[in-house]
Amino acid sequence: MSKTIVVTSGKGGVGKSTVACFLGAKICEFGKRVIVCDLDFGLNNLDIVMGVEEKVVYDLGDAIEGRCRASQALIECPSVKNLYLLSSSHTENSNLSGQNIKLLFEGLKTHFDYVIFDCPAGIDVGFHRAVCACNEAIVVVTPFLSSLRDADKVLSILRSYKLKDIKLVVNMARGDLMAVGECISIKEVENLLKTPVIGVIPADDNILISSNCYLDNSTPSGKAFYKLARSYISGKTKYFDPSKKYVGIIGSIRRGLKKIV
Ligand SMILES: Nc1ncnc2c1ncn2[C@@H]1O[C@H](COP(=O)(O)OP(=O)(O)OP(=O)(O)O)[C@@H](O)[C@H]1O
Ligand SMILES: [Mg+2]
Repeated sequence: MSKTIVVTSGKGGVGKSTVACFLGAKICEFGKRVIVCDLDFGLNNLDIVMGVEEKVVYDLGDAIEGRCRASQALIECPSVKNLYLLSSSHTENSNLSGQNIKLLFEGLKTHFDYVIFDCPAGIDVGFHRAVCACNEAIVVVTPFLSSLRDADKVLSILRSYKLKDIKLVVNMARGDLMAVGECISIKEVENLLKTPVIGVIPADDNILISSNCYLDNSTPSGKAFYKLARSYISGKTKYFDPSKKYVGIIGSIRRGLKKIV
């Protein structure tokens, strides 16, 4: 039985699509089969992040409305074995309900271990549709108050859905600021939102320059996503600590250099 996970946040631009794609890609490194489904109908961009924009023939709407089989709408990511995209529709219509999406995935779930839904920003109809189709949620936050406040609202709505599990991923974490207490710590995030953190992803330019959803495990964000995937699969949380390289004498030199840059 596969897990269906919605990646949401409330606030826009905090890294939902990034987390959905790279978490999916790293889960595949553990020999699992994963579908990432783009449910951001207005501003969909997962096909570009996964490097398959030229290959999209059918989308979610086509699969739901019977113009193709669900399996025909899946596109395998060229650089990550067993990672598939189901692209979002470009137009809204009443058939694209959470219930219909859930039904569509009932058929696909037997062939996949994880289905990850990328949710649009906000708490409108697109959010509710995505949450309806899932049984677990990841709320992506950045360690800044504006993001945490929006996440708090989202969490209170998610709790009313009675999902099996709700976890936080702290994205764009600044290790240099965390090391000297100039930024909200992971423990503070957990306490403020009363929800456990399952992963911490550093702010890392490798994410911006990566192509086809590939992140090497030698990069800070590659390591962090690998740990997030391992925590998800094993159920034992062990997250990346972005502040580690900024403590001690060498760490203070690194912090100084980062300020100059
Ligand atoms: N940890 C990170 N380090 C550096 N850049 C990042 C990181 N996470 C995300 N980004 C970049 O931030 C931008 C926004 O990320 P993304 O599109 O994933 O956010 P989103 O929450 O899905 O946005 P939207 O609400 O518009 O759907 C992208 O350019 C992405 O590459
Ligand atoms: Mg997005």
